[in-house]
Amino acid sequence: MNVSIVGSGYVGTTVAACLADLGHEVTTIDVDQDVVDAVNAGEAPIHEPGLDELVAEHGGDRLRATTDYDAVRETDLTMLALPTPSRDDGSIDLQYMEAGASSVGEALAGADADEPHLVVTKSTVVPTTTEDVLAERIAEAGPERGEDFLVASNPEFQREGTAVEDFLNPDKLVFGTDDERALELLHALYEPLREAADGDVPVVETGIAEAEMIKYANNAFLASKISAINDLGNVCKEFGVDAYEVADAVGLDHRISERFLRSGVGFGGSCLPKDVSAIVAAAREEGYEPAVLQAALDINDRQPERLLSLLDDRVDVDGKRVAVLGLAFKPGTDDCRNTRAKPVVEGLIDRGADVVAYDPVAVEAFREYAPELDFEAAGSAAAALKDAHAAVAVTGWDEFAALDEAFDEMADPVVVDGRNVIERRDGITYEGLTW
Ligand code: UGA
Repeated sequence: MNVSIVGSGYVGTTVAACLADLGHEVTTIDVDQDVVDAVNAGEAPIHEPGLDELVAEHGGDRLRATTDYDAVRETDLTMLALPTPSRDDGSIDLQYMEAGASSVGEALAGADADEPHLVVTKSTVVPTTTEDVLAERIAEAGPERGEDFLVASNPEFQREGTAVEDFLNPDKLVFGTDDERALELLHALYEPLREAADGDVPVVETGIAEAEMIKYANNAFLASKISAINDLGNVCKEFGVDAYEVADAVGLDHRISERFLRSGVGFGGSCLPKDVSAIVAAAREEGYEPAVLQAALDINDRQPERLLSLLDDRVDVDGKRVAVLGLAFKPGTDDCRNTRAKPVVEGLIDRGADVVAYDPVAVEAFREYAPELDFEAAGSAAAALKDAHAAVAVTGWDEFAALDEAFDEMADPVVVDGRNVIERRDGITYEGLTW
């Protein structure tokens, strides 16, 4: 099939490269000429394991990029994979999606196709957006819905760091549409993936708004699961109970499962906090107060403060050197968006601490994300720990588990572990956040 993808960011580029690898002819459309040139030269514009190889193999060949929306006319379907930034109240800002839909509409207005063009929403948007907003923007430009174009929602469930693997071996595919022709096109698009995938890939055929909601429900459930185990973990801590032993046992119940049961300093990243805030804001707008989802956000906001209060119980950090281990929102990435390290570093600075932070890859990204925070960057975890009066672990990098003698170099070996990653041993005053 011939596919165009509007937006060559994190989702757009991985989806485009994977679809090209599955045999489709794919064109990404992006406003950024540098991104376009990179893709055409076979260079991935973002870092994601496995993506470099795919873009190198297909870039400039089955995978092409352009700044020109007219490219959609040469294709059977167009995916909208544009950013949906958060507003101050947590709701999503649709300006890029709307502008993209209008441009697709303008391009289709000049086309003389035999079959209607399918426009698919890939980005996460609140229920009814595809029909009530995006289809409207396309139609305003001239083409008629049903005759010239069709719409569908096909949300993505890729994690950062495993996006290529997640795309090629998904737990499910969600096809949201009310049109048989659109459904056929979606099946044709994913047929090679279903043939190549390791196991059976279930397809959920559903309505457009249901598909939009499935994406939010998925992320809201994952976020709520983390906040539930964090809430329970805090209760465990009050009783001196190890929340990890409890979670291991609870996870044996198939109805719960052991995944996403790691308690600690909370969830970050560009998706879970943003998506839960967006669906809460959207529900509120409709007159419903989603209490559990709001609680998931509140608990998440409080975990960094709990970590700091455990530290306060052990040491007054005012004027003292404190090591922060990990800045990225999770291991395996330099992404610092909504990282729990930000409130932790802020809290330490508020307490008068001299913060020395170490992360194997994310120091620069953290400085960009939180330029107002003044801290010293260390070249290794051991260098950060040297002469520190306390240490806090915020990101669960494997290398922190291997730290041993470095703790002996601390001025005062107080360690508060926010990710259950530091090996407990004699000679350090160890405090786990929920264990
Ligand atoms: C998340 C979802 O997991 C993906 O399914 C979804 O497609 C993606 O958002 C998206 O909407 O694009 P991601 O943000 O890459 O993926 O990160 P996760 O691996 O889900 O981790 C999110 C946060 O939760 C991290 O800060 C992690 O440290 C934290 N976490 C995760 C915990 O605190 N405990 C756990 O048990 C698991």
